[in-house]
Amino acid sequence: MLFKLKRTHNCGDITRENIDEEVVLNGWVNDTRKLGNLIFVTLRDRSGMIQVVFNPQIDAHAHHIARDVRKEYVLAVKGKVKKRPKDTANPNLKTGEIEVVATDIEILNTSKTPPIYVNREERVDEDLRLRYRYLDLRRPSMQKNLIQRHRITQSVRTYLNENGFIEVETPILTKSTPEGARDFLVPWRGRPGYFFALPQSPQLFKQLLMIGGLERYYQLARCFRDEDLRAERQLEFTQIDIEMSFIGIEDILSITEGMIERVFKDVLNYEVELPLDRLQYSEAMDRYGIDKPDRRCGYELIDLTDIFHNTSFKVFQSVVNANGVIKAIKDENGIVSSRSAIDRLGDLVKEKGAKGLVWMRFENNTIKSSIENFLTPVEIEAIKKRCNPSNGDTLFIIAGDKNVVNTALGVIRTSLISKLAQPKGTFDILWVLNFPFVEWDVEEKRYKAEHHPFTMPNLEEFEKYKDTDPLKIGSLTYDLVINGVEIGSGSIRINDVKLQEEVFNLLSIREDEARKRFGFLLEALEYGAPPHGGIAIGLDRLVMLMTGNRSIRDVTAFPKTKSGFDPLTNAPSKVSERQLKELHIHVIE
Ligand code: AMO
Repeated sequence: MLFKLKRTHNCGDITRENIDEEVVLNGWVNDTRKLGNLIFVTLRDRSGMIQVVFNPQIDAHAHHIARDVRKEYVLAVKGKVKKRPKDTANPNLKTGEIEVVATDIEILNTSKTPPIYVNREERVDEDLRLRYRYLDLRRPSMQKNLIQRHRITQSVRTYLNENGFIEVETPILTKSTPEGARDFLVPWRGRPGYFFALPQSPQLFKQLLMIGGLERYYQLARCFRDEDLRAERQLEFTQIDIEMSFIGIEDILSITEGMIERVFKDVLNYEVELPLDRLQYSEAMDRYGIDKPDRRCGYELIDLTDIFHNTSFKVFQSVVNANGVIKAIKDENGIVSSRSAIDRLGDLVKEKGAKGLVWMRFENNTIKSSIENFLTPVEIEAIKKRCNPSNGDTLFIIAGDKNVVNTALGVIRTSLISKLAQPKGTFDILWVLNFPFVEWDVEEKRYKAEHHPFTMPNLEEFEKYKDTDPLKIGSLTYDLVINGVEIGSGSIRINDVKLQEEVFNLLSIREDEARKRFGFLLEALEYGAPPHGGIAIGLDRLVMLMTGNRSIRDVTAFPKTKSGFDPLTNAPSKVSERQLKELHIHVIE
């Protein structure tokens, strides 16, 4: 027996009901303080905390040992539950009305002074938190995040199991599966010069499972992508990965909606209203300038093009003549007030291809604007009527090609609403559907799949535009968006080998290259591939939003830092010459 005082109760579960009972608790010392002869220790375990009091008159031996106790020591304590004396209750603690009067104590382990606060929710340098993640994880907020993550995955699993889905694992050592990021490559001693790739997602395997007759698959799948990191992006992350056979878009949307409804109900007791709102991709871009709008605060784009049909302002005139658009967004909260802030927005929109940013401020019945001398009173009146500005509002106006204008105003919108306090615990959940099938890759000078190359195009549009204007082809795609974050993404897949080859062709993936990279899929498609489709929900992002966190690092037990490093294990690290030699790898410094 390693220690004798085995726990009978969890600290956080003790209530007034237990008064006068003898309990044994195991946990960590959250804090200690002395008051006269008495020693108070707040003991913490996963369930919560409770005050333990050592009184030399009750047990001199226990009191004697308790004198040496420090923060984060590991203790076993025996004692009686008592109501706290009048006026000493702690309303901030669930167990604040009671305490345990100790009769025995075992110090199970000591601790060095922790380099980060465990018992205070203070902002600490994140690298330090990650360096000592095991201490960081002891903090109640981190424990809550991981427990909620667990509850979310359990709820997802239960729901999918109830709906006929089979959980299947797919390989981690595999072949490159293109999802638009770079692969992590893994060399192998068994075949020098050859590499496995870590899966960016199980995309091709889940399609093979459908061809393999599994019909309904899911997996909490680890995915690996070498891409630039952000608050909602890690090098490795988890997807709730789903694929179904003999279905259409509606089936996948409704299964996913049911899952979201269930998870929010189970974990947050929050009622998600179904069916979820739907926006066509083009409508999302027209109204919000972004394919993942957060609609909680309005801020829609306003089309002013028709006002300038006969304008004499040359800049706008040439845009109208070239079938472009002139659109505005209204800063209703005076978020951007200084010239330098406007200039910064100007720089942002230029990065998105906009030629310039016009502003117009309405203040005390006067209008200040970067173009006030170029517009007629009639035009200004029309703008006012359309935009209905209040005193102090600023309009930002951009003219040009429709896609550029939408995207650029979308960037301004994102910047503006990021400064607004969003109400806590509210969720704007919607579908964005029908993304373009391809986009033009300026660097590679070729069309690239907007989702991935196995996505079903809108067949009518594919036939009509594949040779003339592929950008006009839509696709059977859908994204799930919550509070402006892309939570999930999916599509109906191509299950016809001829069409798949045609699509590779459109994407300038040569036949021999396609055979080399995806030959196994093309071959499988020739053996009775059922109609199928699916979706992948980013679990980390879902947990982040449901727990009200701003970064997926806070809902991942052992994440990498913003720069992709793990300060706890010091990974990535150099490996020995012997290891490199076995792999036939020579590192060029
Ligand atoms: P996609 O690449 O859109 O689709 O990914 C699906 C979802 O995974 C999450 N996600 C990420 N989360 C954290 N860190 C990352 N680096 C990261 N990248 C993506 C997002 C995203 O919506 N195979 C397809 C799905 C399908 O077609 O079924 C896929 O992986 O929440």
